Amino acid sequence: MDSHESGYFTETTSIEVVTRRNKKATNERIRFAMEVITRKLHEAVKEIEPTQQEWLQAILFLTKTGHLSNEWRQEFILLSDVLGVSMLVDAINHRKPSGATENTVLGPFHVERAPEMEMGDNICLDQKGEPMLVRGRVIDLAGNPIGNATLDVWQANDEGFYDVQQRGIQPDFNLRGVFRTESDGRYWFKAVKPKFYPIPDDGTVGRLLALLGRHPYRPAHLHFIVKADGFETLTTHVFDPDDPYIDSDAVFGVKRSLMVRFEHVTEDARLAAFGFSEPFWEVEYDFVMAQAGPHN
Ligand code: BEZ
Ligand code: FE
Repeated sequence: MDSHESGYFTETTSIEVVTRRNKKATNERIRFAMEVITRKLHEAVKEIEPTQQEWLQAILFLTKTGHLSNEWRQEFILLSDVLGVSMLVDAINHRKPSGATENTVLGPFHVERAPEMEMGDNICLDQKGEPMLVRGRVIDLAGNPIGNATLDVWQANDEGFYDVQQRGIQPDFNLRGVFRTESDGRYWFKAVKPKFYPIPDDGTVGRLLALLGRHPYRPAHLHFIVKADGFETLTTHVFDPDDPYIDSDAVFGVKRSLMVRFEHVTEDARLAAFGFSEPFWEVEYDFVMAQAGPHN
């Protein structure tokens, strides 16, 4: 018998016995991760002391979560989101220098190759909702404008649905677009005021949230991926601080620095200046990009 095989499994020795069994793992990163996961998992089981029936229920929950996942729907990512793990992994991988715009979750509704648009274009293709102007600058930490930066933007409509959730109801690529800054770093486009919406809650994750007395809603937000040569790609949101769910986002994506006032503009002179024929919401936000490479 191999020396690492000595010692039998008991309730007391469980962690050591399982960890020793893995010591010949060929991949050190996997060996380390499994050591930590084994330790934490066994500790949890020892503290919870599940009945066999409860453990089977947990296994069936995960089984169903897997069965619900396909090309269009990833119930496991949703599970990671509502457990706060997606935001934790995001935070660990996007530690930013002070003053740089913070990252937040990507979410499942980003679409590759959204159409490139001209500054000032309206990303709302079906004229539904309250008009909104979004503008600001892409700048570096010293406040210098960044030209040739791209802003990939997407948002839900005034009823809280993304185009990909309402194929045949919303036009394809509704409320999406890619904008490229000039040398002054400025961006501006028209859109509609977004609304809060529930994450998909008709599966295992929705049931878990209900059992935990939690709602499935995300506060109103706009998504952005901002890219510029020499800078770390920024995946983030801009949130409406007046949203009823701003303090209880189902996926923990809200950060104070990402909240910006949605100002209701009604004066005729300002409507005319921005080419609106009715009152609109104005959102102004500067994206501060961190240099690519290590900075902490
Ligand atoms: C989103 O904001 O699009 C989103 C993020 C996480 C889970 C579901 C949706
Ligand atoms: Fe979203």
